[in-house]
Amino acid sequence: MTKDKKPWGGRFTEPTDRQVEEFTASIDFDKRLYRYDIDGSIAHCRMLARQGIISKEEENKIVSGLKDILEDMEMGNFDYSIDCEDIHMAVERSLMGRIGDVGGKLHTGRSRNDQVSLDMRLYMRDEILRTIDLVKTLKSSLVSLAKNEIDTVMPGYTHLQRAQPVLLSHYLLAYWEMFNRDHSRLTECYQRTNIMPLGSAALAGTGLSIDRDYVSECLAFPSMTKNSMDAVSDRDFVAEFIFDASLLMMHMSRFCEDLIIWTSEEYGFVEISDAFTTGSSIMPQKKNPDVAELIRGKTGRVYGNLVAILTVLKGLPMAYDRDLQEDKEPLFDTIDTVQGSVHILSEMTKNLCFNKLRMSEEAAKGFSTATDVAEYLVMHGVSFRDAHEIVGRLVRYCIEKDKALPSLTMEEFRHFYEGFREDVYDRLTVESSINARNIPGGTSKEMVLRRIVEIEEKKN
Ligand code: ARG
Repeated sequence: MTKDKKPWGGRFTEPTDRQVEEFTASIDFDKRLYRYDIDGSIAHCRMLARQGIISKEEENKIVSGLKDILEDMEMGNFDYSIDCEDIHMAVERSLMGRIGDVGGKLHTGRSRNDQVSLDMRLYMRDEILRTIDLVKTLKSSLVSLAKNEIDTVMPGYTHLQRAQPVLLSHYLLAYWEMFNRDHSRLTECYQRTNIMPLGSAALAGTGLSIDRDYVSECLAFPSMTKNSMDAVSDRDFVAEFIFDASLLMMHMSRFCEDLIIWTSEEYGFVEISDAFTTGSSIMPQKKNPDVAELIRGKTGRVYGNLVAILTVLKGLPMAYDRDLQEDKEPLFDTIDTVQGSVHILSEMTKNLCFNKLRMSEEAAKGFSTATDVAEYLVMHGVSFRDAHEIVGRLVRYCIEKDKALPSLTMEEFRHFYEGFREDVYDRLTVESSINARNIPGGTSKEMVLRRIVEIEEKKN
């Protein structure tokens, strides 16, 4: 194969238009797959020799040529010029340049259609595991923080209105649960990605007696694809990963949104360390939560990637279509964005400094224990609806008189309901409100500590 001749150039009399070359080339981005392309080719070549399709000598030449290419690539000495179209052709061309015509035997019994699916799966296996590791670190940061802050209380919100007091640890572990589900989704995505497609060739399989089991074994795949047309045309594992990443970004974005609000002067619940904030070029007093804002912003970008891949896939006629090349940029961008975000968020989380005093003062405000008074009445035989009404009137009275529930006298309580006793005051503190919620999944200190033990015992 000469330098300007394409591997598929046989039926063509004219060279490819330069603009078409530029338009169709993916080498600029799919060079990211180089290591996997070589690994896959080495396994394929070993199998061809084992099956007697190529000789042992040819195998050795091809494998050592591929290893040399890999070395050059690792050293940054490889020329990824766009007339090579994609990484697969760049490797093949370079191989033939190094070992001559015997290099042309490597592509026996395979097509770029199954080769690219293999490369993507090999690459994604590593990246999914890397993402999982990062998520594990983020989860551990949250658990350590939850342990350190076990006595910190905060106002819990619904509709962003003060609702009921909760432990800060309970809040932090809510995010742990979300990230734990993200973790398990990624683990499942890994299993569906970890399937060996080579041997599907262009779409119909090959007439040569290849050994797919052997290739699977060489590349540590526990199983292989069961239908060649499905294997070359499907990218649902890519879409699935981007979806999992979208949920993970969404969870991070929600946490970041809270941090952004909580660092405001108005809330003052938390301080992000200087190392994770930035200043303003005009206002000297500013300390901005830019990292949190960027994670929130980048979430939209990953959603965009999800819509892109789903749209690429939705109308494809069976089997392989060149549209599939458009799977790579959304995937690569998602991987970079999600990994970068998870990593920086774990680091930032480790360095959060909560203002315990302010959080506990705020937790007590806004009649946050009103539900506890209603539950007190329920325990004295009042129906919940009546209790709700009684406490509602109590609250209105407090608002009119500018009083808080704990400052009401017994007489004032009795004015609204005869059955109030002194022990109602015990129900009005933030601590008692929190610890009353002592059911599995509740915010009491006992339940939160129990969950921390469970989490740590499972070590995930
Ligand atoms: N660069 C292509 C892709 O990413 C590789 C497969 C090309 N196959 C083909 N029949 N043109 O999908």
